[in-house]
Amino acid sequence: MSAKDHLIIFDTTLRDGEQSPGASMTRDEKVRIAKALEKLRVDVIEAGFPIASPGDFEAVKAVAEAVKDSRVCGLARALDADIDRAGEALKGANAGRIHTFIATSPIHMEKKLRMQPDEVLKQAVHAVKRARQYTDDVEFSPEDAGRSEVDFLCRVLEAVIAAGARTVNIPDTVGYNIPDQFGSLIATLRTRIPNADQAVFSVHCHNDLGLAVANSLAAVRNGARQVECTINGLGERAGNAALEEIVMTVRTRQDLFDCDTRLDTTQIMNCSRLVSGITGFAVQPNKAVVGANAFAHESGIHQDGVLKHRETYEIMRAQDVGWSENRMVLGKHSGRNAFRARLQELGVVLNSEEDLNAAFARFKDLADKKHEIFDEDLQALVTETTLET
Ligand code: KIV
Ligand code: ZN
Repeated sequence: MSAKDHLIIFDTTLRDGEQSPGASMTRDEKVRIAKALEKLRVDVIEAGFPIASPGDFEAVKAVAEAVKDSRVCGLARALDADIDRAGEALKGANAGRIHTFIATSPIHMEKKLRMQPDEVLKQAVHAVKRARQYTDDVEFSPEDAGRSEVDFLCRVLEAVIAAGARTVNIPDTVGYNIPDQFGSLIATLRTRIPNADQAVFSVHCHNDLGLAVANSLAAVRNGARQVECTINGLGERAGNAALEEIVMTVRTRQDLFDCDTRLDTTQIMNCSRLVSGITGFAVQPNKAVVGANAFAHESGIHQDGVLKHRETYEIMRAQDVGWSENRMVLGKHSGRNAFRARLQELGVVLNSEEDLNAAFARFKDLADKKHEIFDEDLQALVTETTLET
């Protein structure tokens, strides 16, 4: 059996994530998150957009100096001033990358840039060459690739690869694509661009239709070998593809992927809590992988199953993503087995099966009145039962 390819994880929490309205971070906060991402072993950390503000320049510089085991990347439009500023911010990096972009979709070129396609192509090539004066590691993105014409995309990508781009990133900037279509786009580009094998194909998907993760994974199944994503799916509008979902899908479904990441997934919860704490963006309880309920079981049938064999209702181990353990939530759907197991964990010994039945009946009455039964409720309930018998 051949070895699996390496899937590069490019985290953009500190750049695209920060573009969530209200999520801006200070330099020190960015350094704290970057250190946590380094511990998670992400390959590339996009630390910011150095030309955007003096503060962001300082933040990218500080991250570049603090991080040693991940590459640090700065974003730049395809403009000399942006590229020079990014090059300057990344000077102290152990391994730095400049990520330059220009839009290629008809609507962006005509209405936003007010440029002809040939001018866009020329500017893209110029930008890549200029970025190469600072580093060998240059990434190029045709912004709004998801709504660009494929023939033009092929021309631009072939030209920027020839100019020295080592990663070509295909953004679905407005989250417009659907998985089979986006997967085919990646396959088409890889087949039609003559020098495609000289660059890593990357994807960057937004979540406007809730498809960012599905689109990214379809791309990986069609040969993309870098995914751009954020912790908790933070990002512009509805966000970016969630790192934890991408990484755990690939890890859990190794039967379907011919690649894997190098991440230490036990650091996922640490990063999730840190990003949520710093930005003030709470994680919804039913969020995959990192939500409070992701490994919680309330229904009696599920609790009974998990108590008998964890894999009846769990496809991942809570500990593998950094939770201390899975959680049995006692509520009105819970059964006697989970009730008995929780009492045992609390060290409560009931004298007889009759006492257990009585306590369980009281528990069900209470559960009809309360959303969740806590340990203190159980203690009180058992004390009442034993006093009565
Ligand atoms: O969504 C997007 O197109 C971007 C680019 C800068 C890659 O964030
Ligand atoms: Zn984006």
